[in-house]
Amino acid sequence: MQEILEIIIRAIWFILPAYFANAAPVVSGGIFPIDGGRKLSDGNRILGDGKTVEGFLFGWLVGGFFGIIQIIVWTYYGSEFVLLPEAVSWTWLVPVLLSLGALLGDLAASFFKRRFNIQRGSPVLGVDQLDLILGALLVTSPVWVPEWRIIVLLLVVTPLIHLATNRIAFELGWKSEPY
Ligand code: CTP
Ligand code: MG
Repeated sequence: MQEILEIIIRAIWFILPAYFANAAPVVSGGIFPIDGGRKLSDGNRILGDGKTVEGFLFGWLVGGFFGIIQIIVWTYYGSEFVLLPEAVSWTWLVPVLLSLGALLGDLAASFFKRRFNIQRGSPVLGVDQLDLILGALLVTSPVWVPEWRIIVLLLVVTPLIHLATNRIAFELGWKSEPY
């Protein structure tokens, strides 16, 4: 039991920059859509108004910044939080790539949602929760791939955290849908 708890904490600590990168645009919003309002031949937007330049940049900045704070914390407060081996635990590249990957995964999900005629803001259970994890892990993979137990755990725990935080954001009036 203790061991499972430890893996959960380590896994969340590792992926935290991706969570922050994903959550920040919900707070900032934005007005410049990344796709510039363009549509594809299917008549739907490439990405839609929910994916803005400001949201993307703010998310990347917040995720990267938070990750660098984490690096400082784990440099000063011992090895308990260190999930990464010494060689990469210090590197700012990990949170910067995790954040970028989370945001790119989110864009990819919107791209595919639009291709399936799913309107901006309509939820797709599973896709909306896991896009950020898959994107984050993929983009970070040249630098670091966590052990498989961590990956499985993140895929299970993230949807639960995602649904809970979105609910809170909805109650606070930051988000127009509770999911
Ligand atoms: N957001 C943004 N830029 C991004 C990602 C998100 O501005 N790159 C903001 C938008 O205001 C968006 C909100 O965060 O409405 C919630 O994000 P998300 O749920 O990913 O977007 P949806 O509006 O649900 O759009 P989609 O259906 O394309 O996922
Ligand atoms: Mg959404």
